[in-house]
Amino acid sequence: MRLVHSLRNDPDSAPVFSEEDHSIWNTLFVKQLPQIERWACRDYLEGFSLLGLNEDGIPTLEDLNAQITPRTGWETIRTSVRYTDAVPWYHYFLDRKFLVTDYLRSRDELEFTPEPDLFHDIFGHLPFFTLPHYAKLQEIFAPIFLRTNEKYRDHIKRLAWYSSEFALIREHGELKAFGAGLISSISELSSVMNGSVPLLPFTIDNVIPHDKSVWSHNDQIFIIESIDDLIYELERYFESLPKVSEEVEQLTTEELLRDIRD
Ligand SMILES: [Fe+2]
Repeated sequence: MRLVHSLRNDPDSAPVFSEEDHSIWNTLFVKQLPQIERWACRDYLEGFSLLGLNEDGIPTLEDLNAQITPRTGWETIRTSVRYTDAVPWYHYFLDRKFLVTDYLRSRDELEFTPEPDLFHDIFGHLPFFTLPHYAKLQEIFAPIFLRTNEKYRDHIKRLAWYSSEFALIREHGELKAFGAGLISSISELSSVMNGSVPLLPFTIDNVIPHDKSVWSHNDQIFIIESIDDLIYELERYFESLPKVSEEVEQLTTEELLRDIRD
């Protein structure tokens, strides 16, 4: 069954960001640029340059999609929901749609925000979505998440959290930031890269016992060796999980807009 598209990028309904919003984007961008040039992984930096992000202000999704969709088939979709629940989130993923929230942090939260905002979504995640081998990684989560039971959904969320959001990757013997949560967090990126957080190899057995640290910095970070290794590790595990249904249930518009805080 196909997803019912409840969200559209209608230019007439796009939010108008204030001068202060664009100025916050500029401040975040200027603060984080030297850190990512120093610490972000090669793939991220390649995608960053392809995507053409800059300090001038919040980019339009139209401009972002012009760089992303021809390369990987993924598309960004705007949502006014601040923190989308994992079930609708993965429904959009199944359709290669990445939701970008309209919410932007305030000046009090420049260094760290527990709530993913549009700076996290755009600056942290979207450069990667210009790269076909990264898109392939993101395409393996939704099919199993939407068919397995609650216990294993929780495991999948942890595996996504400690890989796509917060992992480090080894490059030529050096550790670089891979996770979008790290890349978009001024304080957590510097804390991890300065050696303040314990590190372990990313394996299923290492990650699953660790719950997500949504409201504070993570007290454990995991290292992947390569995207191909990560896909191999995840696929092996996903294939072993029980499927409660073969078909993915279609959601109502209301369910697709479910906020995690409901
Ligand atoms: Fe994220």
